[in-house]
Amino acid sequence: MRNAFKSAGLVAAAAALVGTLGFAQPAQAAGEAAKPPQMEWSWTGPFGTFDRASAQRGLQVYTQVCASCHGLEQVAYRNLTDIGYTEDQVKEFAAQFEVEDGPNEFGEMFFRPAEPSDKFVSPFPNEQAARSANGGAYPPDLSLIIKNRAHGFGGIGQNFLAMLQIKGFSSGADYMHALLGLGYVDAPEGVDLLPGQWYNEYMPGGAIAMPPPLYPDGVEYEDGTEATVEQQAYDVATFLAWASEPKLEERKQTGVKVLIFLALFTGLLIAVKRQTWADVKKH
Ligand code: HEC
Repeated sequence: MRNAFKSAGLVAAAAALVGTLGFAQPAQAAGEAAKPPQMEWSWTGPFGTFDRASAQRGLQVYTQVCASCHGLEQVAYRNLTDIGYTEDQVKEFAAQFEVEDGPNEFGEMFFRPAEPSDKFVSPFPNEQAARSANGGAYPPDLSLIIKNRAHGFGGIGQNFLAMLQIKGFSSGADYMHALLGLGYVDAPEGVDLLPGQWYNEYMPGGAIAMPPPLYPDGVEYEDGTEATVEQQAYDVATFLAWASEPKLEERKQTGVKVLIFLALFTGLLIAVKRQTWADVKKH
C-alpha cells in the first residue's frame, strides 16, 4: 500500500516536472526570435581587451562585404590605430575611399581621397538613396549597432558595468554573430516571405530584407585564418563592438582604479575607527 502511494507520488512528481519543463521551453511561437547563443568575447572581465587580430579581420569583412550597404559614419579612419594599425597603414587605408569636399574657389563640390581625420565614407548619400537601392528597406548605420541591439547596458555606472561582465553589451555581439553566422535558414512551413525577404531565426519576426551577406571564403583573410561564415560573423561582431564602445578599455582601467581606491579608502576608515575606539575604551 505504502509502495503504491510512493510510486503514485513519484509519477505525479515526474509529471509535474515534465509539465514545468514544457512550460519553461515553449515551442517557439510564430514571430518570436531564437535566443542567440552566448559566445566568449575577449573584452569581458575586468582586464578584457578587444582582440586586435579579430577586430582587424572584422574590419576586412566590414570593408569587403558590409560597406556596400551599411555606413559607419561615427568612426573616423584615424580611430583604427586603436585596433593596432599604424598611422601609415591608416593613411593608406583611408586613401582608397573618396569623400565629397568643397566648395572650391569656383563654388563647386569635388571629390578627394579620404584622410585619416575623415569619418568612414557611407555607401549612400542619404536614407532615401539607401532605401531605394535596397527595395525600400533601410540598412542601418552600424556605428552603434552592437549597443543598440544589446539589452541591459547603458546609463549610470558604465565604468563598473564595463569592468564587470558587461553581459548586456556582449548580448549585442551575440546577436550579431548569430544573425549573420547562424540565422539564415529555410523559412518554416506556413511562413510566407515577400519578394526581397529572407528568413532569419534571430531576426524579430523572422523576415529580414538583408540578403545573406556572408559566404564561406567570401573574404580571404590577410592573416590566413579560415574564413568560415561563423568566423566572419564573429570577427565583424568584434570589430563593430569596438566601433560601438571604442573607450571600453579606458573605462575598465578607470573602473579598476576606482575600485582599488575604494578598497584602500575603506581600509583607512577601518583603521581610523579602530584607533578612535581604542582611545575611547582606554579613557
Ligand atoms: C546588399 C546590401 C547589404 C549588405 C551587403 C549587408 N546588409 Fe545588413 N542590412 C541590409 C538591409 C536592407 C537591412 C534592413 C533589413 C530589414 O530591415 O529587414 C540590413 C540590416 C542589418 C542589420 C540589422 C538587423 C536588425 O536587427 O534590425 C544588421 C545588424 C546588419 N544588417 C549587419 C550587416 C553586416 C555586419 C553586414 C556585413 C557582413 C551586412 N549587414 C551586409 C542590407 C545589407
